Amino acid sequence: MDYFRYQNGQLYCEGVPAERIAAEVGTPAYVYSKATLLHHYRQVAEAFAPIHATICYSIKSNGNINLLKVLAAEGCGFDVTSGGELYRALQAGGEAQKIIYAGMGKTDEEIRHAIEVGIAAFNIESEAEIENIDRIAGQMGKTAVGAIRVNPDVDPKTHIKTTTGKKETKFGVDIERAERVFEQYRSLKNLRIGGIHLHIGSPVYEIQPYIDAVKKATDLIDRLTARGHKIEWLDLGGGFAVNYERPGQAHPVTEHAKALVPMLKDKPYRIALEPGRYISGNSGILLTRVLYRKMGGQKKFVIIDAGMNDLIRPTLYESYHHIWPVSPDAANVPPQRDKAFEPRNGEIVDVVGPVCESGDYLAQNRPLPVTKRGDLLAVFTAGAYGFAMSSNYNNRPRPPEILVDGDNYTIIRRRETFEDLVGPERVVK
Ligand SMILES: Cc1ncc(COP(=O)(O)O)c(C=O)c1O
Repeated sequence: MDYFRYQNGQLYCEGVPAERIAAEVGTPAYVYSKATLLHHYRQVAEAFAPIHATICYSIKSNGNINLLKVLAAEGCGFDVTSGGELYRALQAGGEAQKIIYAGMGKTDEEIRHAIEVGIAAFNIESEAEIENIDRIAGQMGKTAVGAIRVNPDVDPKTHIKTTTGKKETKFGVDIERAERVFEQYRSLKNLRIGGIHLHIGSPVYEIQPYIDAVKKATDLIDRLTARGHKIEWLDLGGGFAVNYERPGQAHPVTEHAKALVPMLKDKPYRIALEPGRYISGNSGILLTRVLYRKMGGQKKFVIIDAGMNDLIRPTLYESYHHIWPVSPDAANVPPQRDKAFEPRNGEIVDVVGPVCESGDYLAQNRPLPVTKRGDLLAVFTAGAYGFAMSSNYNNRPRPPEILVDGDNYTIIRRRETFEDLVGPERVVK
C-alpha cells in the first residue's frame, strides 16, 4: 500500500505530480511520501499493540532527519548501528531511552557516547564486546544495559548477503552457547544484561522463519529464567519484506503479528521490534530520466541518469525494483495500485546507469513500455536502502531527497554539488 498513484495518466506522489517535481528539482531524485511512511509505521504499531511492543525504526534503511522527525513525533523509537546514526536519532528529537544500539564493531568512543546520552540498551554481538562495554561503563562510573544478540540458526530464505540468523554468519552468539554466556557474565559490575536480541535477515518473505526463531528464543528465555536470570525484554529485530515486484508478494505485517502475537502474549517480558524497510521501503521512489537508447548484440539498453551509486540494491543483491514510466502512453497507464501491470506493445530491455561498471543496472531483461530520450521513469520501493546506500562513485553527486506531504513538497536534502565532492579533501602544496 502506498500513495504513489496514476491519475489522469500520470504518476502522482500524494497530491503532487512526479513530472512537476522532476521539472523543478531535476533528476535523479528520491521522492518520499509522508502519508505512506506514517501508514506503515502505524500499521506495525497497531499490529503489535496487543503485546505493547516497542517499535524502534531501523535508521539504516533511511536516516533522513526529516523522516525520523515524523516517526519520533509518533512516539517511535530507533534502532541505530553507528555513532552517526545515534547522532541522527538525537538530532531528530529521538528519546535516548527509546534508542537501541546494535552493530558488530562498536568503537570505544561510540560506546562511551551512547552510555553518556543514556540509550535504552546495546545489542551485544560477542563475549569480547560484553567485556568491553562493562569496562568502559566502569571507567565512567555508570551501569550500561544490554541484550545479547543470539544467532538462532534459522534460515530466513533471503539473499545470502542479508542472511544474518544462520550459523556461521558473523552475527550474534550461537544459541547453544548463549546460556553459558549468560552464566559467565551474570554478575558484571557495570553492565546489566537483561535482554535477548534476534535479527534473522532481510527482506524475509515467509512467516515461518520468524516463528522458528521466536520459539527458539522463548525456549532459551525459559531455560535462562529457570537458572535465575531475569530476562526483561526480547527484541525480534526487523526484516519484514515489502512488495518490490508485485502486489501481494510480501505479507502485510498484520499477518506476521497474527502468528507472533499469540506466541508472545502472556510473556512476563517486554517485546521490541526493529523494522526499517517495512516502514520506509514503499515510502520512496527514485525518479530518473532516459538519456539514451542503444543496442548491444541482440540486447536493447535504456540508459538512464541514475546509476548503481544512487541505488545499489540490484547490483549488490540482484534485487528487483518495479520500474514504470511516469507518463506512459494511454495503453500503459496501470490500473491504480497495480504495479505488476504488463506492458502493452512493450519491449524487453536492460535499464542501465552511467557508471563505468557492467554491474551498473537497475533492471535486466525487463518488459517495459517503449521509452525514448527524455522520458521520466519511476523506480518504485526505493525508500529503504536507496539513498542510505548511495555513494559518490564515479564522482557523481548524490541525488536530492524530496518529502511530499499532501499537495506540497519540500527538498529535505539538496542535490550534492561538485564542491561537495572535493570539500573534505585538502590540496597539498
Ligand atoms: C540488527 C538489525 N535490525 C534491523 C534491521 C532492519 O531490517 P529491515 O530494514 O529489513 O527491517 C537490520 C537490517 O539489516 C538489522 O541488521
